[in-house]
Amino acid sequence: MAPPRIGLEWKVGALMSALAVGLILTGIGAVWVRMQRLAGPALESAVLRAGDQVVDDVAARLDRLDLITRLLVNDPPFRAYVAEGHLPSVLDNLKDRLSLYALDAFVIADARGTTITDTRKPVGGQTTPAPPAAPPSAPVPRLLTKALAGAPARGFWVDPDGAIYLAAAAPLQAGEAAAIVALEAVGHDLVSDLRQATGTELVFFSRGPGGLVPGASTLRMSRSQLTRLLANRGLAAGGPPHRLDADGEEFVAQTALLSDDDAHPAGFVALRSVDRELASFQKIQATLVAAGLATIPVALALGVLFARRITRPIAALVRATERVRAGDYDAPLPPETPDEVGVLAGAFRMMVAQLKEKDEMDAWIGALALRVAGGPREAGEGAVSETSAATRDLPAREKAAPASPGASSRGPECGHDGVQSIAPGRILQDRFRILAPLGAGGMGTVWKAHDERLGEMVAIKILPAQVMAAEPDRVEQFRQEITLARRITHRNVLRTHELLELEGAWAILMEYVDGVSLQRLLAGGRLPLSAGMRIARQICDGLEAAHAQGVVHRDLKPANVMVDSSGGVKIADFGLARAVDAGDGPSRAGVRMGTPLYMSPEQALGRHVDRRADVYSAGVMFYELFCARRPFEASSALALLRAHIDAPPPPPRSLNPTLSPDLEAVLLRALAKDPSDRYASARELSEALDRASTAGAAA
Ligand SMILES: Nc1ncnc2c1ncn2[C@@H]1O[C@H](COP(=O)(O)OP(=O)(O)OP(=O)(O)O)[C@@H](O)[C@H]1O
Ligand SMILES: [Mg+2]
Repeated sequence: MAPPRIGLEWKVGALMSALAVGLILTGIGAVWVRMQRLAGPALESAVLRAGDQVVDDVAARLDRLDLITRLLVNDPPFRAYVAEGHLPSVLDNLKDRLSLYALDAFVIADARGTTITDTRKPVGGQTTPAPPAAPPSAPVPRLLTKALAGAPARGFWVDPDGAIYLAAAAPLQAGEAAAIVALEAVGHDLVSDLRQATGTELVFFSRGPGGLVPGASTLRMSRSQLTRLLANRGLAAGGPPHRLDADGEEFVAQTALLSDDDAHPAGFVALRSVDRELASFQKIQATLVAAGLATIPVALALGVLFARRITRPIAALVRATERVRAGDYDAPLPPETPDEVGVLAGAFRMMVAQLKEKDEMDAWIGALALRVAGGPREAGEGAVSETSAATRDLPAREKAAPASPGASSRGPECGHDGVQSIAPGRILQDRFRILAPLGAGGMGTVWKAHDERLGEMVAIKILPAQVMAAEPDRVEQFRQEITLARRITHRNVLRTHELLELEGAWAILMEYVDGVSLQRLLAGGRLPLSAGMRIARQICDGLEAAHAQGVVHRDLKPANVMVDSSGGVKIADFGLARAVDAGDGPSRAGVRMGTPLYMSPEQALGRHVDRRADVYSAGVMFYELFCARRPFEASSALALLRAHIDAPPPPPRSLNPTLSPDLEAVLLRALAKDPSDRYASARELSEALDRASTAGAAA
């Protein structure tokens, strides 16, 4: 398999970095939004406050102008002076008063509103009163009209050139003169003062025919820039504060109209620069951005570094998988840490161990098949060698005194079981075509047959005729035991299909296994440790399944364990020992099932037997698997039983020094004389084996 183009560490690293960068950017964004939210309302209320302040200040100045004009018109010497009509003298007098009151101009108008005297003009520039018929050249400001009508007035005065003044006018009855106006220019000094007082930029304007015309302003802008600013559509007088952009700078602005004079309207715009207001925030933001940008490479580096740490054990697992795929089971694995990867490594180690066992077992079974001359054993040849193997290891007396009546004399070829003339080719019950004998055991012959109805291979074990001839109680018990055994459905338990009645004898119909018995495998020499482990584990699994159904085997021995060609194990004859056994007395133990080689002490003593008896028998088998001999050998069945009851088994490592101390301890515990000292269940035994094998593998 080609290695991935982008490794996990880079993917995880990129993800972690992206997360970190995302967090940094989100932080900066959040500060920016917060800043804008806080700054907006603050600026708006500041602009509104400043507008009010300007309006108040203008009102105060107009009061003062009003007072000055009233003083003048109520001053008889001044009126007399004006009435004399000597313009240069009047101008001088007024100019003196200008500096006295810190004003910018006085204008005296005649009854038609025509200017007679204007302090801003030289003596020669003053107009002499026009003949009564001539209309004024420009519209008369409203405040002047009011004064001419006899009432003092105040407001704005806008020159034709757009210059704006604060003005107060009062009626003056002195010769030609009909009204006097005092003017204070809305110029640079005034707006600077106001800016200082309010902290707000100001642009005064008047309204001309083409739109708003800028007057004095605190903004450093050219006249055309100011005209553009005032052209902004949001600047409707009296509206709420409005955001506008003036030559690249953002402002919050509010407009106030100071004059309701239609002919000469004027007002001002109060502005606060958003950028300047946010300058300190922006400094913080810039610092944040700089810090964020500086953090990004660090986040990237740390992301990749952490990702590498996290993914390193996974990468090791991947490499190990590749090597295992190529058949190398010794690839180094990451240590078993308490996290998920460690657990995965543990499970992987276990799987590799099992694979190794399977491979070794396959190889071993393959080699064994080569050693067994003649290939498939099903034609009775295998059965003969099974039988001979079964009897070969028995003590001499047992061979002389066969396990059950007629067992040793029975051959696979005949129907001594009670079924007459059974032979290959015969069809029993119109259904089972007998193919070949598979072997003969303590109870009868096992035949390979073809179930013509279901179209599958089966094995038929024909039991001795006396089983059927027994008392009705025993026959019933037999039935029950077989029925119970049928319930066990597990891959490591040979399936019992049904109990057949064949020509006066019972026969057990069961699943056919294409393989050999463990007894035969053991006869081929010591199994590799891993193969032994694999078999032992499967035996435990099968036992556990049977025990869960309440069935105890009671005659567990290598002859009752079938191993198929792929190393799969099936335990045979569940329920049979109990069913065929007439009683539990020790006197019958030796003859009961044909071999005491695997019998538990409690069974030998005829005591109560439970699942732990199977644990013991499994222990004897495993001992044989790993040490190539049984724990107890004796010259007679009785001596053998006694050894099971009393004798300590030789330490397994004294027979096979390659065994680990852990495995030795497991075997000895399974062989404990007292059931309560053994593993309480097949599962416990299996788990102990697993621990012993992984401890051995890790060592
Ligand atoms: N279902 C089966 N499929 C294939 N072969 C079988 C099957 N059952 C038994 N055999 C073969 O027949 C042989 C005899 O089995 P049998 O159970 O009769 O004798 P045993 O197990 O040696 O002794 P016991 O009678 O105490 O169980 C077995 O060793 C095995 O080789
Ligand atoms: Mg058997």
